[in-house]
Amino acid sequence: MDALYIHIPFCAQICAYCDFAKEVTKVDKRKTYMQNLFSELKHHTQALTQVRSIFIGGGTPSLLDEADLRGLFKTLESMGLDTVKDITIEANPSDVTKDLAHLLYELGVSRVSLGAQSFNEANLKFLKRTHTPEAIKQAVINLKDAGIENINLDMLFAIPNQTLEDLNRDIDLALKQGVTHISYYSVIVEDNTALSRWLEQGLVAPVSEFLEASMYETVIKRLKDSGFKHYEISNFAKAGFESIHNTMVWESHDYLGVGTGAHSKWRNERFYNVRSIKKYNERIENAHSPIADHYPYEPMRDFLLMGLRLMRGIDMKAFEKRFDVEVFDAFPPLRDCVESGLLKQEDGRLKFTHKGLFLGNEVFMKL
Ligand SMILES: C[S@@+](CC[C@H](N)C(=O)[O-])C[C@H]1O[C@@H](n2cnc3c(N)ncnc32)[C@H](O)[C@@H]1O
Ligand code: SF4
Repeated sequence: MDALYIHIPFCAQICAYCDFAKEVTKVDKRKTYMQNLFSELKHHTQALTQVRSIFIGGGTPSLLDEADLRGLFKTLESMGLDTVKDITIEANPSDVTKDLAHLLYELGVSRVSLGAQSFNEANLKFLKRTHTPEAIKQAVINLKDAGIENINLDMLFAIPNQTLEDLNRDIDLALKQGVTHISYYSVIVEDNTALSRWLEQGLVAPVSEFLEASMYETVIKRLKDSGFKHYEISNFAKAGFESIHNTMVWESHDYLGVGTGAHSKWRNERFYNVRSIKKYNERIENAHSPIADHYPYEPMRDFLLMGLRLMRGIDMKAFEKRFDVEVFDAFPPLRDCVESGLLKQEDGRLKFTHKGLFLGNEVFMKL
């Protein structure tokens, strides 16, 4: 196993756009969940002996109190995971006090991913975020003061009512924080979210495809001009600061996910845990597996769906060696994507063209 994902499903408030496994919970419910999470982790000690990166995501891991955070790291330590090179934790900016920043540093966290989303007060309110723009700036200062320099900002564009000017102001402020990594996602309207209901009821207007494309173009150009490498569809890093964990996922390494709703890819299988905290607790407490389902996994298709997300694309010889078939023989429609200028071949690799980045789904639908 190369990578470990640990899911912490608690949130202070539910954001308008979010469909991840999470619940607003009381503290005692969190404690029970954490004990069960530690059991699930320990159950996998053997499989995790060679793990190189750990990603603690959510939900909101920064909502955990000191005892639970210490308990989590003590469990990891007791498992003797000596090969780990990188530990990332997701945090809500308003949780990152000086004390929390020092604690994370002391525990050995190497990278913090802040759910900044926007520096615009009205946008943050609309998205139902609990933090202010000031809290993002203060979180970055607190982390750097504590000795954590490797910081990511999760940012959103194509937020309903956002203009290009708003976006440019957000980019100015994101760049000003001096972080090593920025993930810039276009807002996806997920079913069963407040945002999808507001759109259905006509309470807000969707962002036009044309504006969304102009925004993506702006993000790419401005971050590149400021010294960030665009290395994945939505991800930008200063040299040497690409996400180790996510890159392993995009490169089709095995990973294990523990906790509610966590997905895994292991030994040619994909599977995921139950989403409900109640069901998860019941299963672990009764010594049953928390896995909800295994689902079809086509290794060749998966390799391309993941690998093409990286700007360097996929190594065509590596594909052939792994699957014993040439990439264009396995997926003939990909030839059309090269002919129509969505994909290109360069130095033995197959990758997106600039035009292809804007029409990625047309390529992914052919796989
Ligand atoms: C699941 S969240 C966890 C991080 C943390 N809970 C937070 O929000 O600060 C990870 C990131 O996914 C992105 N995200 C979540 N829902 C999204 C959506 N519907 N469309 C685009 N990006 C989304 C947000 O940028 C968020 O920071
Ligand atoms: S975006 Fe983050 S904080 Fe908001 S509901 Fe989703 S997981 Fe929770």
